[in-house]
Amino acid sequence: MPSFPPNYFLNVVRHQFRSIPEPSTSYKDQIVIVTGANHGIGFEAARSFAQLGASKVILACRSSTKGEAAKKLIDSGLSLGPDIVEVWPLDLCSFESVKEFCRRASTLSRLDVVLANAAVLEYQLLQAPDAGGFERTIATNVISTLLMALLLLPKLRATAARHNTTSRLTFVVSDAHCMAQFEERNEPKIFDYYKSTKGTEDRYATSKLLEVFLVRELATRAKLSHPGTVFMNMANPGFCKPTTLFKTFPPWLQVSIDIFAFFFARSAQVGARTLLHAVDGGSESYGEYLESGEVSVLSPYVVSNEGVEMQQKLWGELMEILEGIEPGVTKNI
Ligand SMILES: NC(=O)c1ccc[n+]([C@@H]2O[C@H](COP(=O)([O-])OP(=O)(O)OC[C@H]3O[C@@H](n4cnc5c(N)ncnc54)[C@H](OP(=O)(O)O)[C@@H]3O)[C@@H](O)[C@H]2O)c1
Repeated sequence: MPSFPPNYFLNVVRHQFRSIPEPSTSYKDQIVIVTGANHGIGFEAARSFAQLGASKVILACRSSTKGEAAKKLIDSGLSLGPDIVEVWPLDLCSFESVKEFCRRASTLSRLDVVLANAAVLEYQLLQAPDAGGFERTIATNVISTLLMALLLLPKLRATAARHNTTSRLTFVVSDAHCMAQFEERNEPKIFDYYKSTKGTEDRYATSKLLEVFLVRELATRAKLSHPGTVFMNMANPGFCKPTTLFKTFPPWLQVSIDIFAFFFARSAQVGARTLLHAVDGGSESYGEYLESGEVSVLSPYVVSNEGVEMQQKLWGELMEILEGIEPGVTKNI
């Protein structure tokens, strides 16, 4: 049931070739976390935050070797002191790792920006034993990403209150959410379905569709419970290169994607710019889906009557799962 907005393909092409201005907002004195910052769009976003004066940029990476290599590149390119960029371990395929990361983040002097960028797209569906046995794409892109967001909300809010600012939480999603078949949508408990490796090759698209639903609901609820403290939205960076998203694909498929990317992809640097514009978005973009720094149109399914019901169902299921992982965490909303 892929569900595309009107003129979807035309819009994709239009966005791909748009020029995106370099962000210029200062992050002086601010502490920023970027997940999946060792490569691709996340790396470029982290580098931009450092360039724009952040007092600390935390590269949240599952591989410390890759994280340290990324830090070295940013430090040397920008001639930064050794204390600006830090590498912190975070494996979104492990709920314990997410909790440990957030415990550590709660000891920071402040937390102004979180860019939830890390994601996977896996050719073969595998279970994540350290993430409740959920399939790895759903565990990484959906459950752990939302768990991390909820665990970091108190620190983001405390920072906003203490410094009389608005903290920022931006989720990196994808226009692939429009392509999801989402055949499991009629399952009595949808997340239970992801405890197996049943499913089709659209799992990445489905994970981004679920993320869109859940971020919309989170944003709505957080605005009611704590208005004006944490600004939230979600952004699609567009098709970007280089990316390691397709690294588990068979070589012939990777070659086809590379050829397509040669003609069509943006650079990760330009993709990252769109994310910084989303982080810096105005009030009109609260809870919204952005492309090229502007509020854009979601899949018609998301905003349909069925989608509205689905959003509530998924939210209820996720809250149950998150309470099982960290009792009391849903009170953070
Ligand atoms: N590139 C595109 O065309 C495109 C289009 C639309 C949306 N997006 C979205 O943009 C974001 C960044 O994509 P990208 O192209 O930059 O991807 P990428 O090059 O594959 O980078 C993904 C990052 O996420 C990290 N990551 C993966 N699994 C993780 C885990 N379990 N725990 C912690 N970190 C993990 C990766 O770490 P490792 O290096 O250790 O794997 C890597 O640093 C993703 O959310 C993606 O869905 C990308």
